[in-house]
Amino acid sequence: MINFAGTNFFNMERIKLHDKYFKIYIEHQEILDKIKMVADQINSNYSSDDVPLFLAVLNGSFMFAADLMKEIGIPCEISFIKLSSYSGTESTGEVKEIIGLNSSVEGRKVIVVEDIVDTGNTITDLHKLLVEAKAADIKICTLLLKPNAYKKSLKIDYAAIQIPNDFIVGYGLDYDEHGRQLKDIYVLDKDNNK
Ligand code: IMP
Ligand code: MG
Repeated sequence: MINFAGTNFFNMERIKLHDKYFKIYIEHQEILDKIKMVADQINSNYSSDDVPLFLAVLNGSFMFAADLMKEIGIPCEISFIKLSSYSGTESTGEVKEIIGLNSSVEGRKVIVVEDIVDTGNTITDLHKLLVEAKAADIKICTLLLKPNAYKKSLKIDYAAIQIPNDFIVGYGLDYDEHGRQLKDIYVLDKDNNK
């Protein structure tokens, strides 16, 4: 087994990323089971004429998008986008731009694929931009939802897993860009951090 300078991320109960400790929270198989349930809902909500366009939001949703697509049994397309909240060099906190939207969404049934919905700011701004781009129908599919943090009225159509307001990493999600490659989801270990 590969061991990077004393750090071994495989099958660990507890890991350290940068300065913080995280402990195992949701195991890979449970994640896959929950994704299958969401995929089954999507499969039954679309007909073969719909050909929905899955729009996966990078970077966080790359693992989720890959595993979700394997369970989609209807004709569909996938594209990947990045969001920019920068105007010049200052972060506005508001999503200004969709980078890499090369397939036209005009008239399409779009399913946004997100890693996590927290306050809902990102998804609400993205939804607005997709309405402006004249998508015919927009649905939101997220791996994780923090219902106690969510402050928006926009309907979250598909949420595979609901969690409390804790900071998590793994399965695409990062702490300062680290931890995205983890198969399982880890939560900040409150008892072991300063
Ligand atoms: P929102 O705009 O507040 O809904 O936040 C959405 C974005 O914040 C997500 O796409 C993530 O990039 C990031 N985020 C929110 N909660 C977490 C977390 O617990 N761990 C890692 N990233 C998070
Ligand atoms: Mg994200």
